[in-house]
Amino acid sequence: MAQRLLIVDDETTLCESLRRVFERDGYEVATAGDAESGLKLFEEGTFDLILSDILLPGMNGIEFLETIKQQAPEQLVIVMTAYASIETAVGALRAGAHDYILKPVIHEEIKRLVRLALSARSLKAENLLLKKQIEDRFDFEHILGKSPTIQALIEMVKKIADSRSNVLVLGETGTGKELFTRAIHHNSCRRDKTFVPINCSAIPDLLLESELFGYVRGAFTGANQTKRGLFEEADGGTVFLDEIADLSPTLQTKLLRVIDDHEIRPLGSNQSRKVDIRFIAATNKDIAKSVKDGTLREDLYYRLNVVTFLLPPLRDRKEDIQLLTGQFLKKYAQELGKPVQELDPETIKVLNDYDWPGNVRELRNIVERAVLISGGQAIKPEHLPEGMKKNDPFQHEAIDQALSIENYAQALILRYQPKQNEQMLAKMLGITRKALWQKRKRWGLHRNQT
Ligand SMILES: Nc1ncnc2c1ncn2[C@@H]1O[C@H](COP(=O)(O)OP(=O)(O)OP(=O)(O)O)[C@@H](O)[C@H]1O
Ligand SMILES: [Mg+2]
Repeated sequence: MAQRLLIVDDETTLCESLRRVFERDGYEVATAGDAESGLKLFEEGTFDLILSDILLPGMNGIEFLETIKQQAPEQLVIVMTAYASIETAVGALRAGAHDYILKPVIHEEIKRLVRLALSARSLKAENLLLKKQIEDRFDFEHILGKSPTIQALIEMVKKIADSRSNVLVLGETGTGKELFTRAIHHNSCRRDKTFVPINCSAIPDLLLESELFGYVRGAFTGANQTKRGLFEEADGGTVFLDEIADLSPTLQTKLLRVIDDHEIRPLGSNQSRKVDIRFIAATNKDIAKSVKDGTLREDLYYRLNVVTFLLPPLRDRKEDIQLLTGQFLKKYAQELGKPVQELDPETIKVLNDYDWPGNVRELRNIVERAVLISGGQAIKPEHLPEGMKKNDPFQHEAIDQALSIENYAQALILRYQPKQNEQMLAKMLGITRKALWQKRKRWGLHRNQT
């Protein structure tokens, strides 16, 4: 998608020559002759970068810059200034300009500055993204499963990743819908662009709409700043619509339009922007029923369901349980800096006989817990949660459990205190900060001990 520039200068000839220069390089350019009309354009649309003169008739360039920064602190602005007002240029930098250029403007120079500013911005965005991706790495590089269904699904990821087709991912909770979705994105030619996960059920309607489409200032009460929507952020990338069956009817209609026209319009704006997005939707609900009930639009369902991934529940692929358990044991041992533990044969049997309503996520959590409470020995059935075992003497269980919880809390504190603040840590343990402090004291754990 073309980058959008706004040029504000009262010298019409300069505006026009810059317009020509940048348009030739593929930018979309809007121009304004004074700050007031510049602000109007700014409020109506979204610009990747604004080039503004400092000496403007009426509202001056610094006030213009300040007004913009108030509304959109992240907006890139480069100011143009005559040599005589170099001091003002410094003022502009203080007011939040990204850079300045001296007049008379040399075309090659200004092109370079604009290019640099835009790449610095995308670098910043990429860094944030990279961080997120490193955190998620375990999740998309390790789709485990030797069962024929998982193997076939992995093959299918490879086959369809590069196409632009929308995808629907179905399966019970914890079966790996998000994992597969990320794998599709990361195996596609879109991998360097943004992956935007959106939980359709977690956010109230109007808020979600403004998040997705963005808005211009004044679009609704409280819209003090112009904001780019997530769809725009995802341009060239992938949007993951999680819990699609919970999307409101209004937003379903709007989404359908985005899919059909490849176009979005921020709230309160009269300008549309082209976007190139691949949609992957997921749900753990019975989607055929949602369509039949009328909660999910049939036409939207067909648009999304070009390729279907149906993830099998864990109980239907028991051959994967041991493989997954082994992998999770390794992961948590590594995180805790301990040797990898063995599984007692009885434990293997309990794991195999269990029904796994929470699927792989449940298995992962159970292994993490077992690693924490088993204190380094082989993992025995008593290290598994009570409900999983069919014929354990309750007496024995209760005593063991009481001891384990203490161990578990200690391990949690040691593990998470380097990463979490006190409030979060207390919340994770379900206790107050004061109680956390008391527990540390009682157990002799120090705040900075890792
Ligand atoms: N085949 C697999 N191999 C390795 N890890 C897996 C596999 N399937 C799922 N997981 C792990 O299980 C956890 C849950 O997976 P994920 O979040 O993708 O489930 P989901 O289907 O989106 O669940 P929900 O419907 O509750 O959102 C994640 O930590 C994921 O990495
Ligand atoms: Mg999910």
